[in-house]
Amino acid sequence: MTDQKQRKAVKLSDYEPPAFEVETVDLHFQLTEDCARVRTRMHLHRADGVDLHEPLHLHGEALELEALYLDGQPLAMDDFLLTRQGLSIERVPDRFELEVHTLLRPQDNTSLSGLYRSGGNFCTQCEAEGFRRITYFPDRPDVLSRFTTTIEADRQRYPVLLSNGDLVDSGDAGEGRHWVKWVDPWPKPSYLFALVAGDLHCHQDTYRTRSGRDVQLEFYVEHENANRTGHAMESLKKAMRWDEDTYGLEYDLDTYMVVAVGDFNMGAMENKGLNIFNTQYVLASPETATDADFEAVEAVIGHEYFHNYTGNRVTCRDWFQLSLKEGLTVFREQQFSEDMGSPAVQRIQQVRLLRSAQFPEDASPMAHPVRPESYVEINNFYTATVYIKGAEVIRMYHTLLGDAVFRQGVKRYLERFDGQAVTIEDFRQTLAETGGRDLGQFGRWYSQTGTPRVRVRDEFDPARGRYTLHISQSCPPTPDQAEKKPFHIPVAVGLLGRDGQALSLRLSGESVAEGTTRVLELTGSEQQFTFEGLAERPVPSLLRGFSAPVILEYDYDDDDLAFLLAHDNDPFARWEAGQQLALRVILRRVQGQASPNDSRQVIQAFQQVLEAPDLDPSLAAEALALPQEAYLAQHMDPADPVAIRAAREALRTELAQALASQWRDTYRRYRPEGPWRLDADHIAGRRLANLALGYLGATGAAEDNGLVQQQYHRADNMTDSLAALALLADREDEAAVTALDDFYQRWRQTPLVLDKWFRVQAMSRHPRVVERVQALVQHPDFDLRNPNRVRAVIGAFAQGNPAAFHDDSGTGYRLLAAHVIRLDAINPQVAARMALPLSKWQRYDASRQKMMKNELQRIADAPSLSNDVYEVVSRSLEATG
Ligand code: TRP
Ligand code: ZN
Repeated sequence: MTDQKQRKAVKLSDYEPPAFEVETVDLHFQLTEDCARVRTRMHLHRADGVDLHEPLHLHGEALELEALYLDGQPLAMDDFLLTRQGLSIERVPDRFELEVHTLLRPQDNTSLSGLYRSGGNFCTQCEAEGFRRITYFPDRPDVLSRFTTTIEADRQRYPVLLSNGDLVDSGDAGEGRHWVKWVDPWPKPSYLFALVAGDLHCHQDTYRTRSGRDVQLEFYVEHENANRTGHAMESLKKAMRWDEDTYGLEYDLDTYMVVAVGDFNMGAMENKGLNIFNTQYVLASPETATDADFEAVEAVIGHEYFHNYTGNRVTCRDWFQLSLKEGLTVFREQQFSEDMGSPAVQRIQQVRLLRSAQFPEDASPMAHPVRPESYVEINNFYTATVYIKGAEVIRMYHTLLGDAVFRQGVKRYLERFDGQAVTIEDFRQTLAETGGRDLGQFGRWYSQTGTPRVRVRDEFDPARGRYTLHISQSCPPTPDQAEKKPFHIPVAVGLLGRDGQALSLRLSGESVAEGTTRVLELTGSEQQFTFEGLAERPVPSLLRGFSAPVILEYDYDDDDLAFLLAHDNDPFARWEAGQQLALRVILRRVQGQASPNDSRQVIQAFQQVLEAPDLDPSLAAEALALPQEAYLAQHMDPADPVAIRAAREALRTELAQALASQWRDTYRRYRPEGPWRLDADHIAGRRLANLALGYLGATGAAEDNGLVQQQYHRADNMTDSLAALALLADREDEAAVTALDDFYQRWRQTPLVLDKWFRVQAMSRHPRVVERVQALVQHPDFDLRNPNRVRAVIGAFAQGNPAAFHDDSGTGYRLLAAHVIRLDAINPQVAARMALPLSKWQRYDASRQKMMKNELQRIADAPSLSNDVYEVVSRSLEATG
């Protein structure tokens, strides 16, 4: 059992500025096959106003200390205090040099934090607190230092030696070894440090900035992936151009390097000048990557690049401010994706993700505000709330201030705080000042937990031609906060005439009508807004573009929703109307209240979408996809994932059969002709054709089943091949076995594609999927040390296959708990993430609750649990039903 001290929560309210600054850090790495030796020389000084008797504290974890020198003098064991968390020196001068020699074992580092090995190469991951696993250091984001890094290693095994900044020198070290020296001119916190050593292929290109400087762009990958970096390179150039055009930000070093590694805890990492990426977000070729993968590569490349300003040049004061860099950078990434493709489709996908990943988090024992107030393990707070709700909050600033003022505010923030470690408040104040607005109340989006409900009532006064919206808000209590104060909520609305036309809007007190969308600002718990000059009662289009991360309640009847789906001029709201219609019909079916008229209405609405003369194939594909099971489950208390699956599948089958000939037509019409291309037309065509194929897979007709098989065997690209394989994986017949086997044989040597093979099976709707998953975790290619593989099997099953995971037998829960315990000994960060589905136990019936809590308890009782998993299971068990 770990000692209690280590479990202590860190609190925002305890923040104190650093007592010592580190001006320069000079690192020397000696890498060998069984260990790594690190010599760190740093120049420190006492911060202004800090007491002379204040001791020096350095963080350090999993390190062997070999030597310590203060101003050149070796320190004896009783000159300092060494604990499992770090090192303290009682008396130090105001200004001094410290030299630390540490010994590390990267070969045994399975946590993938600090210095570790992946595929025979060395690499690092320092965010959030990995640098302390390399050397003793004040490992906190508000200590910014200039780094110099020398790496020495075997020349043949590790021809490529990389670190942040510019390569300034290199040479021979004798005995077949070589060394290189890197200098990063930009002061940075330790979490942005990176090092890579390996035998890697380099794809090089140049980018000319708008001021005419040439930047070297370099992608480093294992040799077998040499021809799969083209898309990432193009994405990087687009991102660089976009940030210049949109925010006026130009890259600030001579080289931008990206290294792809196969073992990585997250998506990618923005280390200054040397990003390290999960291979998943770099490698892409038509044979191995789906259209969604190509899109994700572009988005993540953009995300890490945009961090160069929002995160690196201006960083976070402490980890409670994480959303300062992540919310803002996700928002910038979203804007980039919207500009590169279809803004409406992007917005729909963002909202789907928010609802399926963040809303459930808000409703769970792990709920926390966008700026958390306490944590045991910071790695547990790289969450959907901090990232994507954080991005929604930034989007609301953008909505409230308008595009021009918002961009000006961001620029001003970056200039004012350049080279500093700041807070979410600093950002908010700069925007408020730029916009000349009071954004005080808006700050509650950062401090209050939970998803607000916005309730709308309306009334029409025909005599005066007045239409009034009564809008109220509330936010349910969360484990951390009982009472909530009103939020500042932008509610974008439009009104449609009975002919389907969008009306020009005039609010009471205005003399002319202007625009068809207006942003109403709800600041009180209840307010009313009156529109004038209406000839008839309009149909309201509410929360257009999803202008706030809330749950909207308005009593539409089914006909209104069908009307909005057909006519709303806001594409998001149009999609939303269709989703709400399908949602109701599925829920009524779950409750045994379905009327035949229900499916008829959805069928008719879908048919209208399919037959619309101006059909946009990628928007249509979104409109014709039924709401996700995770979203449906939020509308049921207690949630019954098995019943939801059954009802949703039943509606899918009805839609498949009733519109069979339309699906066949759509499939034929939109399937791109000729060889694969990655352009908007082909992508949209594949998306709609594969959606149609999905319905055809459910008609039960032999002709349609044949089509699925045919597509699998004839496809020249992964999008089509995987779409068909996923449909086959739902079946139990010979064709399914043949295809899965074929796919395995073909791709067993290509890890990212083999992950897909695991994932389609873990997510399949096959009746005996739990057994299948039990077999998958025994498969020789399953490996608990590889996070991508763990996510492809355990994550896909527990998060992406709710009906199977929540199987009445409880087998799914047991399987997850057993793997969380095993994984915790290998990689606590990933283990804690995998445990999260169990934390949501309160949402289910008594029998499931009991089984889920038993498994949580079993995990809690496991010996030597990490802080990561401990925090998730203890918080989950403390919550009351
Ligand atoms: N800062 C990274 C990003 O969002 C996230 C990240 C990558 C990370 N690797 C990590 C966070 C490891 C915690 C631990 O772009
Ligand atoms: Zn990020």
